[in-house]
Amino acid sequence: MIATEIIKIDEKNIKNPEELKKLRKAAEIIKNGGLVVFPTETVYGLGANALDANAVKKIYEAKGRPPDNPLIVHVANIKDIYKYAEVTKTAEKIIKKFMPAPLTLVLKKKDKSLDCASPGLDTVAVRMPENNTAKKLIGLAGVPVAAPSANLSGKPSPTNAEHAIKDLNGKVDIIICGENCEIGLESTVISFNSDESVNILRSGYITREDLYTAGARIARQKNADNLEPPRSPGMKYTHYSPDAPLYVLSGDEKNIIDFIKKEIYNKNNKTGFLCFDEFLEYFEDNKNIALISIISIGPKNNLREQAKNLFDALNKFNMIGVDIIYSVEPEKTGVGEAVYNRLIKAAGGKIIKL
Ligand code: TXA
Ligand code: MG
Repeated sequence: MIATEIIKIDEKNIKNPEELKKLRKAAEIIKNGGLVVFPTETVYGLGANALDANAVKKIYEAKGRPPDNPLIVHVANIKDIYKYAEVTKTAEKIIKKFMPAPLTLVLKKKDKSLDCASPGLDTVAVRMPENNTAKKLIGLAGVPVAAPSANLSGKPSPTNAEHAIKDLNGKVDIIICGENCEIGLESTVISFNSDESVNILRSGYITREDLYTAGARIARQKNADNLEPPRSPGMKYTHYSPDAPLYVLSGDEKNIIDFIKKEIYNKNNKTGFLCFDEFLEYFEDNKNIALISIISIGPKNNLREQAKNLFDALNKFNMIGVDIIYSVEPEKTGVGEAVYNRLIKAAGGKIIKL
């Protein structure tokens, strides 16, 4: 255990001297080899100086992360992407169109000094976050910042400061508590083939349609997770899992409601139900309501809202302490592809067809 300093920051006023002072302090810690948790637009990140092998090692220890899973290197400006990576033509188009963005580019590593972030690989994953606090912090640190999501390995990603505190208090030097993450899912991770086509290694807020519209040719692939090689090593591990077993229910609304009602009447399990707003009315007059915790992630057709709320819902079930969780199945189009991907991974692929 180390003493973790928890710092509240007013993200709307980070240019105020008081807020800047807090960020300067955190930036110094990063520069000098410490660990700092900070908000980004996607999820909270656990940052360390990407040029400092010892500091990067501490990230792996704090998270309990498998050593062969490389880290994303975060930069504060576009010129640093070019400094650390070889930018291909298509990558350049994408950078111009999107950056800063919830998007990570896997590119050929230019600089050996970044080897500790992606050991054994000739590539580096680079992201320039859009969130002003993150950008300012990285800029003040003056070094590239390696940062995975600020959760224990395998657990749901942190979309607010409270989630990060729960997992990492006592394991890092500073936790910067800002606002809830606007997007709520990790960045889209893409790589580039020699013919300039693009692989989506991890789906996210920037969708395949967004990339296509920006002029990227998306390589044929079964889905974002079955791609190999090249692939994102992190995708092979269990991910995002809540403490209770999670099952995704696939079928029409009525069958799902009947199934859930039977479950809570027939068994004494404390059940979690992750659903859309449209399902809430079915449980308004339920006598056994004490046995079920119902959390909606938003309207059925609002995929961005679902993205924002998914990890928070999984974290909430952990805090409530349920025995089993059932979830409805999100639509797989647009940002829904990423929501679906995270949910199926959290469920370890367990789907019940109704
Ligand atoms: O939104 C995000 O990307 C957040 C915030 C903090 O920026 N970070 C994040 O990092 O999600 P992490 O470590 O939880 O996920 C990084 C993913 C992993 O699946 C990892 O395997 C992959 O990116 N990755 C990193 N470097 C790579 C590389 N050189 N080649 C292929 N995949 C790589
Ligand atoms: Mg992660």
